[in-house]
Amino acid sequence: MAENDDLFAGADVLITGGLGFIGSALARRLVGLGAKVTLVDSLIPEYGGNLFNIEGIRDSVTVDRTDVRDTAAMSMLIKKRQFLFNLAGQTSHLDSMTDPVTDLNINAAAQLHILEAARLSNRDVKTVFASTRQVYGRPQYLPVDEKHPLNPVDVNGINKLAGEWYHLLYNEVYGLRACALRLTNSYGPGMRVKDARQTFLGIWIRQLIEGKPIQIFGDGTQRRDFNFVTDVVDALLRAAASDKANGEIFNLGDTEHVNLTELAKLLIKLNGSGEYQLIPFPNDRKAIDIGDYYADFAKINGALGWKPTVALDEGLKATLAYYRTNHAHYWN
Ligand SMILES: NC(=O)c1ccc[n+]([C@@H]2O[C@H](COP(=O)([O-])OP(=O)(O)OC[C@H]3O[C@@H](n4cnc5c(N)ncnc54)[C@H](O)[C@@H]3O)[C@@H](O)[C@H]2O)c1
Repeated sequence: MAENDDLFAGADVLITGGLGFIGSALARRLVGLGAKVTLVDSLIPEYGGNLFNIEGIRDSVTVDRTDVRDTAAMSMLIKKRQFLFNLAGQTSHLDSMTDPVTDLNINAAAQLHILEAARLSNRDVKTVFASTRQVYGRPQYLPVDEKHPLNPVDVNGINKLAGEWYHLLYNEVYGLRACALRLTNSYGPGMRVKDARQTFLGIWIRQLIEGKPIQIFGDGTQRRDFNFVTDVVDALLRAAASDKANGEIFNLGDTEHVNLTELAKLLIKLNGSGEYQLIPFPNDRKAIDIGDYYADFAKINGALGWKPTVALDEGLKATLAYYRTNHAHYWN
């Protein structure tokens, strides 16, 4: 990444969802690179934002508690920015089924408003949108590349797909430089661990630290790939820095895949104690489960030189250590 680092020194950067897991890690990195960083986050209590995520850089960033659905405020915020990392999102798949319209308003409508604001007042901004592997639905082949059919299995997947395509459309039609990364399971310090809304891995870490058994839904044979948050941040920065990314979609992923039982065993080993139990899939989760998934990330590797660098055991060790020390800031 070193060759692009200079680009961000002194740059005016807006991060929506900046108090969330990935947004705050990105902010930390950008502050280190000398960028002028503004974080937009509504801190809706049920969502993943947490002021503790920016501990240590609070005085180096501007925090704006605007909701991205506030179109007038977002129009003002977008002006004169050089980079927009568009990460604010309703991330719970289950919540998208029980409250689909909120998911639509945040993950699709607000994205369109943000792009309209950019079209009207700041066509020079470079935008990177955080999309999700959920848009593919149940894989028809593995690893899943960007040519895989799109067949979302929940409302969240459909709305994220719309959010993503608005970005590509505005790139194509209006020349607003924008691209989207389809993230796979991302993990690390700052991830949501208080409940299972974001990812099963978060609640597993909490269960382990609380001395409770890790609960695996189903038979534990589902395979997944994982990216440590610093690798996700590196991908976001590479996508922002390169005009080769404009109008493109890129998968993130890892060549290391594990099934859920292997993952639970690895966590228990790294923790030095713990146990897991297999429990039947709750019906509401089973209905929207995608089965095995891991990504082919050759496209971003070829175009932007990105590949994951943090091995799963290394990343999990760092994540466990973080929550052992800081859990009081994430659950009580
Ligand atoms: N973490 C993953 O494994 C993963 C996987 C695929 C995609 N993504 C995408 O990456 C992005 C960031 O994810 P994350 O893991 O950091 O989640 P997160 O929940 O930690 O961060 C999202 C942030 O957005 C904020 N937010 C939500 N709605 C908002 C609104 N209406 N206005 C302003 N702020 C709002 C939340 O308060 C939160 O701080 C999301 O768009 C998510 O869909 C994440």
